[in-house]
Amino acid sequence: MKAATWVEVGRMADVPPGHAARVEIDDVPVAIFNVDGEFFCLDDTCSHAQASLSDGDLDADRCAIECPLHGSAFDLRTGDPISLPAVEPVRVHHIDTSDGVIRVALSDDEA
Ligand code: FES
Repeated sequence: MKAATWVEVGRMADVPPGHAARVEIDDVPVAIFNVDGEFFCLDDTCSHAQASLSDGDLDADRCAIECPLHGSAFDLRTGDPISLPAVEPVRVHHIDTSDGVIRVALSDDEA
């Protein structure tokens, strides 16, 4: 297993609570979410079709993101779909926000 490569993608202040940002790392689009000050990073592309999860609605109560195209919700902690039509998870990536800087390391898991 290769070591995670951390990439600086922005500052915490760039993604206020309740918001998302889309960035690309090695041509992989990922979405960064801020849920009440806690940050999560998932694949940006929905596992169901070609939709950008960073354009979806954040559900802080369920710690989930709702896909803007067909409405599947994904758990931000696990990437698992918690409502249809999506049935496959999206990858969850490593995220670090020490020093106010957002750093992401892509997960090795297959999409
Ligand atoms: S593209 Fe996301 S639920 Fe269909």
